[in-house]
Amino acid sequence: MTTPAGPFPPDGFLLIAHRGDNRNFPENTLAAFEGALAAGADMVELDVALSADGRPVVIHDDTLDRTTSGAGRVSARTLAEIEALDAGSWFSPRFSGERAPTLEAVFRRMGGRIRINVEIKKEAAKTAGPFPDVCGQVAGLIRQHGLAGSVLVSCFDDAVLADFRRIAPEIAIGVLSDRPETPGEVLGRMEAVKAASYHQNAALLTRGVVEALHPRGLRVLAWTGRRENTWEALKKALECGADGFFADDPGPMRKLLDGWREKNAGRA
Ligand code: G3P
Ligand code: MG
Repeated sequence: MTTPAGPFPPDGFLLIAHRGDNRNFPENTLAAFEGALAAGADMVELDVALSADGRPVVIHDDTLDRTTSGAGRVSARTLAEIEALDAGSWFSPRFSGERAPTLEAVFRRMGGRIRINVEIKKEAAKTAGPFPDVCGQVAGLIRQHGLAGSVLVSCFDDAVLADFRRIAPEIAIGVLSDRPETPGEVLGRMEAVKAASYHQNAALLTRGVVEALHPRGLRVLAWTGRRENTWEALKKALECGADGFFADDPGPMRKLLDGWREKNAGRA
């Protein structure tokens, strides 16, 4: 089995809007994804959970409380119930009426206009029910919308990624991490699922890992927690030689990134 190349430019750095432009819009909504595109992001990242009736919904937390007008577990509510909730007012009254979109709605609106990183939440893979599993549904939607070349699927759980790889040999996978790992460990995880990219917490990223992956054509993306999403973190990712950064506020980050690249043009 070969490794799908993924939606990576041959030579370039991906500015990825984390849950869309989550500083200026309610995270993981169509408004946040449109905002990310307008701010100059190269890719949007989103999180996928399953509703009680097994439909892939775009929301980060396992519960509805923080980012919607509802409460309780996402997996305990049907899609119709989730779609009736307000997913914008918690952020600002300006966004009242914004919804937690289905993955299908995001593909319909954003597909082909910007690269998309679909992060499957571990909880979604555990949700049991009389409907197709989350990996099968995500793969089916990517194919249905003709997005195999512009979507990257990631997860913190390698067992979920192995399942996805078996179902979709042609779609690129990113392996997520939030712990220190040696280059050998990273390469082993990536080889097992034929992953195209490694997504590490910027605080744990090392030049050694980047140098082990690059000669093999593998990419490295850096993410951070909310408080750590700063220019310093982006600079560290650039200095380590990473291929992309998950930004909470992609507009200013775009300017900083372009300025850095101009200044360092020609530097290895
Ligand atoms: O995929 C990178 C990042 O989104 C992982 O953390 O918790 O924001 O989904 P989280
Ligand atoms: Mg995520």
